[in-house]
Amino acid sequence: MKLEGKVALVTGSSQGIGQAIAVRLAQEGADIIIDYRSHQEGAQETLSKVESTGRSGLIVKADLGVVSEVRQLIQSGIQHFGKLDILVNNAGIEKNASFWDVTEADYDAVLNVNLKGVFFATQTFVQHLIETKRTGKIINISSVHEELPFPHFTSYCASKGGVKMMTRNLAIELGPLGITINNVAPGAIETPINTRLLNDPEKLGALLKNIPLGRLGQSQDVASLVSFLASPDADYVTGSTFFVDGGLLWNYQEQ
Ligand code: BGC
Repeated sequence: MKLEGKVALVTGSSQGIGQAIAVRLAQEGADIIIDYRSHQEGAQETLSKVESTGRSGLIVKADLGVVSEVRQLIQSGIQHFGKLDILVNNAGIEKNASFWDVTEADYDAVLNVNLKGVFFATQTFVQHLIETKRTGKIINISSVHEELPFPHFTSYCASKGGVKMMTRNLAIELGPLGITINNVAPGAIETPINTRLLNDPEKLGALLKNIPLGRLGQSQDVASLVSFLASPDADYVTGSTFFVDGGLLWNYQEQ
């Protein structure tokens, strides 16, 4: 087990990729802080799965788009487990609209959760590591769309492009503190964020033609890479993005 004695926070871990990451890190020996915003039963399910590995979990409700809640989330986790070693910034949302129809409220919702939340969760975590004079690992769940245009999802792309530059920048600032930061960039993974696409056979067919490995990804495909980046095996890895996309990045059209 690679993460024995570690404590990890996985934001947005009541479903999808976040849930799989929480369970995988627990299987590797970490205790887990499970965060959710609205899907409480999902958070309970994650907790049961974490506990069935023999590790402990703590459920905390927090909206990653609200900085005071982000800080509260991290403080509650530290209070409960005594420390935090690994931060996985997974929570994310997307809104589909033509650029000229995007509302300010939708723009704010996406940027607040996907970029501002990541920024201040990371800052609060780093402050804790500095205070306790320890090193740590940050893994951001970005997207192929930190790199690849995605028409009708401009706010989402802007947020993920922001996370890409944040990671590159922080690798330099945090390196001297022994803190690493990396992005994992999933492609089309079968999760609730994709429900509309999954239920549209025509779009799904077109998408699959763009994926060299010929299938959608599963949450576990992402979780296994996160568990590596969170472990000492990845001590010399920082400032990079790792794509988990079945090869989709080569050239892509969903609509
Ligand atoms: C988005 C999905 C999309 C996938 C591939 C992800 O980042 O959340 O909606 O299907 O990228 O384009």
